[in-house]
Amino acid sequence: MYNESILMKRGENMTEIARFYDDFQPSHYDIYLDIDRGTKKIKGTTRITGIAKSANIAIHQKNLKIDLVEVNGEQSKFEIDTTKDALRLTMDKLGKVEVKVEYETKLTDSMMGIYPSYYEIDGVKKQIIGTQFETNFARQAFPCVDEPEAKATFDLALKYDEKPGELTLANMPENRVEDGVHYFDTTVRMSTYLVAFAFGELQGKYAETKSGVKIGVFATKAHKANELDFGLSIAKRSIEFYEDFYETPYPLPHSWQLALPDFSAGAMENWGLVTYREAYLTLDPDNTSLEMKQLVATVIAHELAHQWFGDLVTMKWWDDLWLNESFANMMEYVAIDALEPEWRIWETFQASESPAALQRDATDGVQSVHVQVKNPAEIDALFDGAIVYAKGARMLVMVRALIGDDALRAGLKNYFEEHQYDNATGADLWKALGKASGMDVLKIINSWLEQPGYPVVTAKVEDDDLILSQKQFFIGEGHDQGRQWQIPLNSNYDEIPTIMSEKEVKIAGYQNLREKKGEPLRINIGNSSHFIVKYDDTLLEDILRDVTGYDSITQLQILQDLRLLAEGNQVSYETIVPLLNKFADSKYALVNTALYSVARNLRKFVTPHTVEEQNLKALYNKLSAHQVDRLGWIQRVNESVDDQLTRPYVVGAAIYGNNKTAVAQAHELFSANKNQLSSLQADVRAAILINEVKNFGSHELFNKLLEEHRRSADGSYKSDICAALTSSKDPAILNELIDKFEDADTIKPQDLRAWFAGVLSNAEGEQLAWDWIRNEWQWLEDTVGGDMEFTTFITVIARVLRTEERLAEFKEFFEPKLVVPGLTREIKMDTSVIESRVKLIAEQQNGVNKAIKEVL
Ligand code: BES
Ligand code: ZN
Repeated sequence: MYNESILMKRGENMTEIARFYDDFQPSHYDIYLDIDRGTKKIKGTTRITGIAKSANIAIHQKNLKIDLVEVNGEQSKFEIDTTKDALRLTMDKLGKVEVKVEYETKLTDSMMGIYPSYYEIDGVKKQIIGTQFETNFARQAFPCVDEPEAKATFDLALKYDEKPGELTLANMPENRVEDGVHYFDTTVRMSTYLVAFAFGELQGKYAETKSGVKIGVFATKAHKANELDFGLSIAKRSIEFYEDFYETPYPLPHSWQLALPDFSAGAMENWGLVTYREAYLTLDPDNTSLEMKQLVATVIAHELAHQWFGDLVTMKWWDDLWLNESFANMMEYVAIDALEPEWRIWETFQASESPAALQRDATDGVQSVHVQVKNPAEIDALFDGAIVYAKGARMLVMVRALIGDDALRAGLKNYFEEHQYDNATGADLWKALGKASGMDVLKIINSWLEQPGYPVVTAKVEDDDLILSQKQFFIGEGHDQGRQWQIPLNSNYDEIPTIMSEKEVKIAGYQNLREKKGEPLRINIGNSSHFIVKYDDTLLEDILRDVTGYDSITQLQILQDLRLLAEGNQVSYETIVPLLNKFADSKYALVNTALYSVARNLRKFVTPHTVEEQNLKALYNKLSAHQVDRLGWIQRVNESVDDQLTRPYVVGAAIYGNNKTAVAQAHELFSANKNQLSSLQADVRAAILINEVKNFGSHELFNKLLEEHRRSADGSYKSDICAALTSSKDPAILNELIDKFEDADTIKPQDLRAWFAGVLSNAEGEQLAWDWIRNEWQWLEDTVGGDMEFTTFITVIARVLRTEERLAEFKEFFEPKLVVPGLTREIKMDTSVIESRVKLIAEQQNGVNKAIKEVL
C-alpha cells in the first residue's frame, strides 16, 4: 500500500556515515535488559562475540550511559564519539573477541528505540512497551554494529516490573522464565534493525499454518476480542501463500502480529514479531468498510512478504532500501489477489499507487528509486514513499509483466537460496531474475531505477505515419536533461515495438493498421508501465467515442493521464470537464475513484463562497445524484465489491454538493444513531459525521465527538471523527480544535498530521492551521522532528496552498530552512509544487469555471 505515513524522513548531520562492520564483525549477542516502567530506567548488559579485524574497532550506541566495558573478561578503556554514535575500543589482538558492555538508558518517548505506547481503558491510563529499530535505533537499546550487513544471532533476556497476566513477546518463542527474567530462544542470523520485543497487558489470538507455523495477533485489551480475527486470518493465509509462492519455508517457529497504540510508521516487519499501528491490524469485523479491510489486508501481506524479502535476505546497505520496500509493496498485491480474488486488488493498486507515483515523480528534483547514500541525512531522506514504494512497485510490476510469474518465482527461489541469512544488492536480484527468464532485465530496468522522473509518450498521426516519441513529463518548471527510458509500450497494435528505446519511432500506414485492428490504438494497456500517453486529437477522439465500453483500468487510465497532462499544462482542464458526465453512472468503483479524483482537482479553481464554488458543488451533485439513489445509504446483502467501494465516494460527493435529500438523509441517520455513533455503517460514517458537523454543528457535538475519539480504539472510527471535526465551518470550533493539537491525550503525535491536513484544507481553517504550524514549528520539531513523518507536514502544506500570497509566505517561512539537511529536497520540490499550482490556476481558472457552468 502506498501509505501517507512514509514519505520522507529528516536528518541530523551531514558527516560521512561511519561503517563499523569492516573492523568488527559480531556473530552473536547476549542481551539482558531490565526495564522499569515507573522510572523509565533501563539497565542493560550486552555481550557481543565477534571478530576484530582491526586494532581500533567501534560499536554503535546512542544515548547509552556506559558504566563498564570488558574485552575478553578484562575491564577495558573506551571512548564515546557522539557524532558517530560510536563506542570506540582498542584491541590488543585481532581475531575472536568478546566485548561486554554494562549500561543504563531510558525509555524514549519518540516512538523509536524502546518506547511506551499510551492508551486508556475506562478512563484509566495504561501503557505497553514496544520497540522500533529500523533504520538505526537498535543502538538506543543495546550496543551493536547497527548496519544491515552485520547479521548475527541474538539471545534476549528481559526483566521488567511485571504484573500478573502480562504478556512478553519477542522475535523468538520464550524459552524459560527464571527469577522473573524471560529468556527467549536464540534467533537465526539476522540484522539488528529487525530485533523486537514488547510486553504489557495484551490479549492474543492464535492459529497455525498448514506447515505448522504458529500465527498470533496481539493488541491491548481496549479492543474487542473479535477485532483480532480478520488480521489473524489474513496473516495465516499470507504466510501459507508465501511459503508456496517463494517455495521457501517460513524459517521461524512463530509469526506474531502486534498492534501498538503509538506507532510512527504504518507497520514494521521485525522478524517473527511484526508491529502495526492499531488501525492497520485490528478491525471490527462487523462494521468496517471494505476499503479499510483491503488496506489492513495489504499492510499485513506487505510485512509478511518482508519476512523473506528483507528479513531472510536483507539489503546490504540502505541505498537498496527500495529493494526491500518496492518488492514488498508489489507482493502485497500479488498475495492479496491470491487470497481474496473477488476484491480485484490490482485495481486498488491502480487507484492508489499509480497516481501517487505519477504525481510525485513529475516534479523536477524528485529522487530516483535507487539513491546513493553516503551520509546519515541521506539515509533519512530515502523514504519518499511515492517513489520508493509506489514507483518502485510499479517498476517491479513492469518486470513481472515482462518476465512472467514462472520466471519471477524461479528467480526468487534461487535468490533466497543463494543469499538466505545473508545480504544482497539490487544487482543480485537482477542477476537471479535474468537467469530465470533469459532476459537482460537490468538493461530495461536501469533507466527506471537510476533516473528520476518518467516519460510522456506522444502518439500522433502525420501523413498516415504513426509517430511515437518520448520526453520527460513535468508538472511545473522542469529542466529537461534529455533523459530517455526503455519503455514497454504494451500496445493493442502488434506493429508497435514491445520496447521503445529510441526518442522517436515511426510506423507507416496508420489507416491500414486501424482498419485491420478494427479498434482504436491504445498504448500502455493495463497501465502496467510507468508512463503516460498523450494522444493527438484524432487518436483521442477515436478512444473517447466509446470510452465507457472499456474495462475499468483503461477508463481510469484515460482520466488519469488527462488529469496529469492538465496538471502539466499540456492539455486544458476545460476540455476534461465535459467528459465527466460520461463516467458518472459507472458501475466500476475504479472509474468512480478516477472521476472524483479529477473532480477534487477542480476545487483549486474555485474560490470559496463564490458562484463558481456553487457551480462546482452543483456539478458534484449532478455527477453523484443517480448513484446515491441507486446505492442508497444502507448496504444490501450480497452487494458487489464495486458497489461497496463506490458508495463512500458518491455519498461524499453528494454531501460536498449540498444535495438536499442526501443532507437530510444523513442527518436522519445521525439522529437515529445518536447514542451509538460508532455503529453507524462504517462506509458512510465519515460522510454522515461530516454532514452533521458542517450543517448541524454545535459545541455540544464537538465535545461529544472529541470524547468518542478519546474513548474509541477503532482506527476507522477515529479517522472518521477526524475528518468530521476538521471540516467544521465554525472558526471558534476550529480554534478549539487547534488548541488540542499539542495535547497528546487527545490527539496522538502519530495522528497529528491528518488533523492538521484536515483543518488546513478546510477554507475556514486554512489561515488558522497555517498560522499554527508556523508559530509552533519549534514545538513540532521537538515533538516529531526525529520522526519519519516530519517532512510530510511540508508535503501536506504544499498540497493545499494555491495563491500568490501563500506562495510568498511559504517561501518566507521555509527558505531559511533549506539548509537543514533532510529538508532541502522537500522544500525545493514543494515550492515548485505550489508555484506550478498558482500558475495553473491563473492560466486555466476562467476556462474551467466556464466549462463547469456549461455542463450543469
Ligand atoms: N520497513 C517498513 C517501515 C519502515 C521503513 C520503518 C523505513 C522505518 C524506516 C515497513 O515494511 C513498511 O513499509 N511500512 C509501511 C506500511 C506498508 C504497508 C506500506 C509504513 O509504515 O507506512
Ligand atoms: Zn515495507
